[in-house]
Amino acid sequence: MKVLIVGSGGREHAIAWSVSRSPKVDKIYCAPGNAGIAEYAQCVNIGAMEFEKLADFAQENQVDLTIIGMDDPLVGGVVDEFESRGLRVFGPRKNAAILEGSKAFSKDLMKKYHIPTAAYENFDDPEKALAYLRTEAKFPIVLKADGLALGKGVLICQNLQEAEDGVKEIMEDKKFGNAGNTMVIEEFMTGREVSVLSFVDGKTIKTMTSAQDHKRAKDGDQGLNTGGMGTFSPSPFYTKEVDEFCQKYVYQPTVDAMAAEGREFKGIIFFGLMLTKDGPKVLEYNARFGDPEAQVVLPRMKNDIVEVMEACIDGTLDQIDLQFEDNAAVCVVLASDGYPVKYEKEIPMYGFENFKGKDGYYCFHAGTKFKDGQIVTNGGRVVGITATGSNLKEARKNAYAATEWITFANKYMRHDIGKAIDEA
Ligand code: AMP
Ligand code: GLY
Repeated sequence: MKVLIVGSGGREHAIAWSVSRSPKVDKIYCAPGNAGIAEYAQCVNIGAMEFEKLADFAQENQVDLTIIGMDDPLVGGVVDEFESRGLRVFGPRKNAAILEGSKAFSKDLMKKYHIPTAAYENFDDPEKALAYLRTEAKFPIVLKADGLALGKGVLICQNLQEAEDGVKEIMEDKKFGNAGNTMVIEEFMTGREVSVLSFVDGKTIKTMTSAQDHKRAKDGDQGLNTGGMGTFSPSPFYTKEVDEFCQKYVYQPTVDAMAAEGREFKGIIFFGLMLTKDGPKVLEYNARFGDPEAQVVLPRMKNDIVEVMEACIDGTLDQIDLQFEDNAAVCVVLASDGYPVKYEKEIPMYGFENFKGKDGYYCFHAGTKFKDGQIVTNGGRVVGITATGSNLKEARKNAYAATEWITFANKYMRHDIGKAIDEA
């Protein structure tokens, strides 16, 4: 098979690595890819939002399967473009990717189908949002831009002043662009967060092993929200009881709700959960693998990813026995100092050869490129260093040891990824 992967981050590197292990696959393309993905795939210089060019490329090169890694093209309808040309593609159509593309949609869906989530109101008029905040709100409170905002459109406001500033930022100044035309105001919840990714074929859902992300930039969960600074898998807080609850009240009900709405969902659903004292509740849905969740979940997956994705497309996921290794993995992101605000790029990187031939150690590239034959930094999150171990502590020790193998001048990382393990 020839497979095309769309995207250029650490998640797509993990997907490319996983696809490269499939005995069914003999050629991988990635658009646009990065310097690490280039090890398994021929990188093609087409942007993830250039749907027609992507589909033209798939047609011209007789690609058998295209995998969409990123949210923007899914929400924009790239799958519809591929399907209209009879091309096989993994991911939800536009009418289903709205599960991630609109937080107001997903909240209304959960309410209608009784899926546990935080109490909320949707607003498309800033005056009404302000009136609500001044009269009915309890603080802290959460403001969310409706649309995609690189994981940054969520503001946790401690008091009315912060919330008023937040409404201005999201709805009036349009800090997150059109994503802020509508806003969700949501009850603040407390508890452990856990990410559960799943494969879905329209009717059947098979969940993957759990993971936990670290969204803040600095140690101790301080600093700004980022795309994710590191992950571990499995989450020791995701117990059998939590899983049973979510299988019954969250996962299958979400798939059934989408089908009932005429928005059959095929692809990945990422459930962002909060384990509150009143039980698990949905924080958010994503319509794709998490980044960097994929970097700890995929190295633990036993199945041939291509076989599972084809089963999702064909509606035969019920016949797949999804299995994960009985081990653990930790991923530590090496970022450019200053991320997520301002940082330098094109800094030479060294040490990639240290990963050669080392089983259980991975360097997934997120923001890298080649410049004059040398690998240089090309983003805020630069690489994700993943290591496995027989348990979480060992995996963490291994991952932090391997973070030393890669060097670049403005290297920055958190030193407490997986610290929660000690409290489990
Ligand atoms: P989201 O993009 O919806 O996952 O939000 C990003 C982050 O904001 C989450 O991972 C949580 O840490 C936090 N967050 C979102 N919604 C809430 C909420 N209702 N209560 C508390 N924290 C929240
Ligand atoms: N790591 C969180 C996300 O991919 O949305």
